[in-house]
Amino acid sequence: MPADSKDTPEKTFTLTNDQTGESVKLPVVEGTYGPHCIDIRSLHKTTGHFTLDPSFTATGSCKSKITYIDGEEGILLHRGYNIKELAKESTYLETCYLLLYGELPKKQELEEFKGHITNHTMIHEQIKAVYQGFRRDAHPMAIMCGVIGTMASFYHDSLDIWDPEQRRISAHRLIAKVPTLAAMAMKYSKGQPYVHPRNDLSFTENFLHMCFSVPAEEYKLRPPVVRAMERILILHADHEQNASTSTVRLAGSSQANPMACIASGITSLWGPAHGGANQAVLEMLDEIGHKDNIPEFIERAKDKEDPFRLMGFGHRVYKNFDPRAEVMKESCDEVLAELGIDDPQLELAMELEKIALNDPYFKDRKLFPNVDFYSGIILKAMGFPVEMFTVLFAVSRTAGWISQWKEMMEGNSLKIGRPRQLYTGAPERPYVPIKKRK
Ligand code: SDX
Repeated sequence: MPADSKDTPEKTFTLTNDQTGESVKLPVVEGTYGPHCIDIRSLHKTTGHFTLDPSFTATGSCKSKITYIDGEEGILLHRGYNIKELAKESTYLETCYLLLYGELPKKQELEEFKGHITNHTMIHEQIKAVYQGFRRDAHPMAIMCGVIGTMASFYHDSLDIWDPEQRRISAHRLIAKVPTLAAMAMKYSKGQPYVHPRNDLSFTENFLHMCFSVPAEEYKLRPPVVRAMERILILHADHEQNASTSTVRLAGSSQANPMACIASGITSLWGPAHGGANQAVLEMLDEIGHKDNIPEFIERAKDKEDPFRLMGFGHRVYKNFDPRAEVMKESCDEVLAELGIDDPQLELAMELEKIALNDPYFKDRKLFPNVDFYSGIILKAMGFPVEMFTVLFAVSRTAGWISQWKEMMEGNSLKIGRPRQLYTGAPERPYVPIKKRK
């Protein structure tokens, strides 16, 4: 029976200084699953030492009940529910509720939640002016960084982070309004008029409607496409303490308002090593162009002197298949079949995957396709411009970010996150006037 997640002081880890022989006992804390943790909070006080773990490869930043990833087995759980079951059976809004409140909603609870979200999908009319400040060819992620931060200047009534009711309203506003703002970013870049949300549509139908309808013609909602979009939103909703979620938590630890925290998550997600990878995969497939060129790019990906990496491959935690990539691949086949698209990039991607997974370099390093490897192919087939791919990731991950922020705010002590360092710079030295500098 897995230990419940509590501090077990009787379990300790002894560290010994081999130079002085001094030892220190540190408590071991156990979770429901996953590696036990050595609680090092007393380490500096008792030994005068820090730990050093650049990029946090082996450092737990918090306790959390929201998501668990078993990287070796390729398992992803949200509040104990397997992502493959959620992708198959659930909806994005139901998954949002689960992430926020810890349980699958009863029918009435889900209807109420849907009502809250639906009633917050419209944005303040003046926010439209913010978009005018961007060039039409601005990357939509640049627009999202700006407009999400701007939300703090429009929704003053829900920024008190110590008031649970205002935290609830902010969470609902963000989940509801980020899709509207994302669709507006897409319309702005196309020079098309914004499309207002419709309360008679589901969350996902409404998002596709706002992205693709035009005044002259309503977007035709096709169930397989809506289902694929729903699945993509579910698959990207949360993922433990990834770079952007850790950014949100760190911003929140300074007591910044939730809109500012989510804006910080968006900036971190933008990077091609993280959420920007879905755009980078399509650009990489374009660059490869033909399967005959794959061996050259595989060699480049292995060459340490070459900055080229196989985008959509590898993961800090998954050392097996990313379960989301498997679901994404199934959706890919369905959507392309539904739309009657025979996308050569999908064949190229599958050939690249086959060759890479048979190459010792990738096998030895357990570099498998991740969530971003196939998502871009589906999104392109749906008609999204490649620059919107990471924005769609942000639309989905807003639920995870705000759930993790909420969990942190509900904790029993909000301490500002403030990592230390190993200083390797110059020793103290006197100032040299410019006349005396050689
Ligand atoms: C996401 O953290 C999350 O949970 C993120 C995410 C989420 O839902 O929030 O899952 C979403 O960001 C998915 C990842 C998307 N990024 C990419 O697809 C970009 C390509 N992948 C790499 O940049 C890389 O794999 C990372 C950034 C994803 C992970 O990097 P790590 O864990 O720091 O691994 P590493 O750089 O230490 O690599 C270990 C070895 C190195 O070689 P050696 O030094 O051992 O010889 O593997 C090599 C790396 O050079 N390597 C790759 C590679 N990824 C790692 N070599 C070629 N191509 C790659 N893609």
